[in-house]
Amino acid sequence: MKIYCAKDYYGMSRKAANILSAQVILKPDSVLGLATGSSPIGIYQQLIAWYRKGDLDFRAVKTVNLDEYVGLSPDHPQSYRYFMQSNFFDHINIPPENTNVPNGLAQDTDAECRRYNQVIHSLGGIDIQLLGMGHNGHIGFNEPGQAFELETHVVDLTANTIDANARFFSSRDQVPRQALTMGIKTIMQAQRILMVVSGADKADIVKQAFTGPVVPQVPASILQMHPNVVLVGDEAALSKL
Ligand code: F6R
Repeated sequence: MKIYCAKDYYGMSRKAANILSAQVILKPDSVLGLATGSSPIGIYQQLIAWYRKGDLDFRAVKTVNLDEYVGLSPDHPQSYRYFMQSNFFDHINIPPENTNVPNGLAQDTDAECRRYNQVIHSLGGIDIQLLGMGHNGHIGFNEPGQAFELETHVVDLTANTIDANARFFSSRDQVPRQALTMGIKTIMQAQRILMVVSGADKADIVKQAFTGPVVPQVPASILQMHPNVVLVGDEAALSKL
């Protein structure tokens, strides 16, 4: 595993954006696994800026996102599809049909999971998967205690995650109770993993995930077993490593 320590969130974002940008330059038809949340926003802003300068071309890039809430439509401001459009896709030249996010409105969620796995397989797998990490060690919506060998599946969100996400909704009751998420197996099959972490509040879980035992109680700990992980963090988040 390679670890890059940046001074702050801005530095972390630029370092991670450089890695993604190199991937796209070296392989213009890369399959990028993408994430939502506060961690990657600065990366998307940097990539948009480089695209506007003419340094990056996303025409042939394909993307697959980690997850989506069950029950939220693509135009719901808290849906992950909406997040990706407004924070990234609407500002670059990626063809809409090249972007993939699980369909939160699918009636048959199991069939949607199978379809999503198929999409990933038909693209030839993920070249680089961008990840953030929850305070409980979750990656995607793979919550503590889930089996490591799952592909895309439906999860019941933990009270911890519902609480953490309640700030984005008008009330806690509005937070969806389920999500569709790539499983740990899908994530581990990516050629390369790029995890970004920032803030002192992530320091404990970063230490547990990367120096503690590999256990389902800390889903991100499985990344210790991946042959090609890059961890980019700010000083605060990496302070306990
Ligand atoms: C996002 C996702 C989540 C977040 C994690 C960290 O698509 O799957 O696992 O990466 O909750 O969120 P932030 O970056 O907001 O701290």
